[in-house]
Amino acid sequence: MKEPPIDRVLFTAEQVEARIRQVAAEISAEYENRELKLIGVLKGSVFFLTALARELTAPVKLDFLAVSSFANQRGGMPGVVRIAKDLDESIEGEHVMLVEDIIDTGFTTRYLMQHLATREPKSLSICTLLDRTPRRIVQVPIDHRCFEIPDRFVVGCGLDYKQLYRNLKYIAALNVEAS
Ligand code: IMP
Ligand code: MG
Repeated sequence: MKEPPIDRVLFTAEQVEARIRQVAAEISAEYENRELKLIGVLKGSVFFLTALARELTAPVKLDFLAVSSFANQRGGMPGVVRIAKDLDESIEGEHVMLVEDIIDTGFTTRYLMQHLATREPKSLSICTLLDRTPRRIVQVPIDHRCFEIPDRFVVGCGLDYKQLYRNLKYIAALNVEAS
């Protein structure tokens, strides 16, 4: 395969692993023996979700949903989000944590939080691998965040460019022009 047109590694595999362990320790302390349902957003959050789940000591359940979002493509119309695959099981009365790869404009997360809230979970929180605040348009309450990033397009740890590079163990800024 062609080498990814990486401009700069923002976080190495070791930094990502260490930070996920820290955040998992915070979440474990918060939930202790309470059951927690992690909700992953396909496909971007899968790598982060599984790495996080393996470090948690609280009892964990998983479910996934998928969205199609025009905001996923830069230059696309932001804010138009649609559920492409819904949860398999009810979350009523459960402690639920939405696990995101990146919160950018905030449109996807806000839409998903509203969607999940209608299912009446006991609690609802947000955990994201990356937070790119310079591009935020709608505010969302982030409970746990691994890294803040500058206004650069990034790949790795689940994040893709044209479906590639999700499996990179590190997080890198992509030289989009060169790819
Ligand atoms: P938002 O609705 O603008 O917050 O968009 C969030 C979604 O856009 C994420 O879940 C990603 O799928 C996608 N996305 C945003 N920024 C990047 C990036 O830098 N690399 C890869 N995907 C991204
Ligand atoms: Mg994507």
